Amino acid sequence: MAEIKEIKKIGSERSSIHSHITGLGIDENGKAKYKADGLVGQVEAREAAWVVVQLIRQGKMAGKGILLVGPSGTGKTALAVGIAKELGEDTPFNTLNASEIYSVDLKKTEVLTQALRKSIGVRVRQKRMVYEGVVKEIKMKIARSKMNPYVQIPREVEIKLGTKDEERSLTAGEAIAEQISRQGVRKGDVIWIDAETGNVVKVGRAKGFEGVKTYDIESGKLVEIPAGPVKKEKELTNTFTLYDLDLTIAAQSFSITALFSAWTEREVNQDIRKQVDSYVKDLISKGVGELIPGVLFIDDAHMLDIETFSFLTKALEAELAPILVLATNRGTTKIRGTDVEAPHGMPLDLLDRLLIITTKPYTREENRDIIAIRAEELDIELDPQALEELTNLSVEDSLRYSIQLLEPSQVIARKAGRGVVKAEDVKEASRLFSDLRRSVKYVKENESLFLK
Ligand SMILES: Nc1ncnc2c1ncn2[C@@H]1O[C@H](COP(=O)(O)OP(=O)(O)OP(=O)(O)O)[C@@H](O)[C@H]1O
Ligand SMILES: [Mg+2]
Repeated sequence: MAEIKEIKKIGSERSSIHSHITGLGIDENGKAKYKADGLVGQVEAREAAWVVVQLIRQGKMAGKGILLVGPSGTGKTALAVGIAKELGEDTPFNTLNASEIYSVDLKKTEVLTQALRKSIGVRVRQKRMVYEGVVKEIKMKIARSKMNPYVQIPREVEIKLGTKDEERSLTAGEAIAEQISRQGVRKGDVIWIDAETGNVVKVGRAKGFEGVKTYDIESGKLVEIPAGPVKKEKELTNTFTLYDLDLTIAAQSFSITALFSAWTEREVNQDIRKQVDSYVKDLISKGVGELIPGVLFIDDAHMLDIETFSFLTKALEAELAPILVLATNRGTTKIRGTDVEAPHGMPLDLLDRLLIITTKPYTREENRDIIAIRAEELDIELDPQALEELTNLSVEDSLRYSIQLLEPSQVIARKAGRGVVKAEDVKEASRLFSDLRRSVKYVKENESLFLK
């Protein structure tokens, strides 16, 4: 049985510049709250994005596209993050930066095809026979490894599983014993074992079982002891992307020759994709699979070239198509790879197929609120004058610039032995780090000193 990976949710490390965004901040009536889920203002765009989320959930957006248009720093990428958060973990949301298509070791079409396939999910429902219960006793038989006599490996496991109503003792061979030892399964854990494949899944610690503490960080989450028989049918659902399935099938046809050739190219064979597509269609027609069109988000879409645009336009019309979300901050500009000027640097036939959401520049108050949210997210305490100073900078220069000054200001405040950032720290940070306008002015004034 080959291993299949689950969809991972999009990166949400604390430090990323959009980590304060947890959704679109919409109320029950579809209206955007002024400040919610980490977002401030930009009300119409957020409401439009929310409608898009509803359409995606209802499966009505497949093969369609959205274009986010607005000046730099007005929250286009932030909105896309909000959409991803609203969609939740089960809908694939895949981000491609436009510049990634110019990779050296992969063809453009390959990068794009992989990106498209990472954005289409298949939810598979399956009934499996499993043994499920709380571990009441566990005995592991250890033997020497055949490969290396100095290493001891689990050879067999004897395990007593219990539910609220029943108890059963099982013995299992090496494959299961190994998983149980690797996952550190112990008395008091609720687990289930797939009767056919022998896959072992640890669910959590059994609530109320002797020896299980109610509060124990190490032991993981507490779960109820299951009821009913130990051996039973369990319905499992899992969402995979087409790309996951491609890799799984590719791994099965993996051979020694592949080690020397195909593997280094990291390209997925077209035949494999066809195989996966027909397999997926089969699952859907049998009623065990459901297609989940996810989102392919391409930021800085004006960086794409004419070939890519035409590829994407075609892809939207394919049978298995994701929802395309593009973002750009360009007005009228040349389409890359041509001499043609076009709105947002995109061919009109693609633009025609896109719904456009515009983001507008923020007011002073909105800037202030966004800076405050960022400061809170970064655990930076600002005194009111410092916030005012940063707001001034965001109006005079840019919102990004003042957000970027938050951390340097904190370093400066700490150096002065303060936990709270004051206006003077912000001024000092802004003296040390030039904004773009000042930097351009500096270049202009000293033009002759720079290399040409
Ligand atoms: N309405 C908002 N509420 C909260 N934070 C926001 C909002 N709009 C933007 N931000 C934050 O401000 C910063 C700049 O916004 P963002 O990167 O989304 O701009 P952008 O429109 O994508 O700009 P660019 O065209 O340069 O890519 C980010 O840290 C973002 O999270
Ligand atoms: Mg952006």
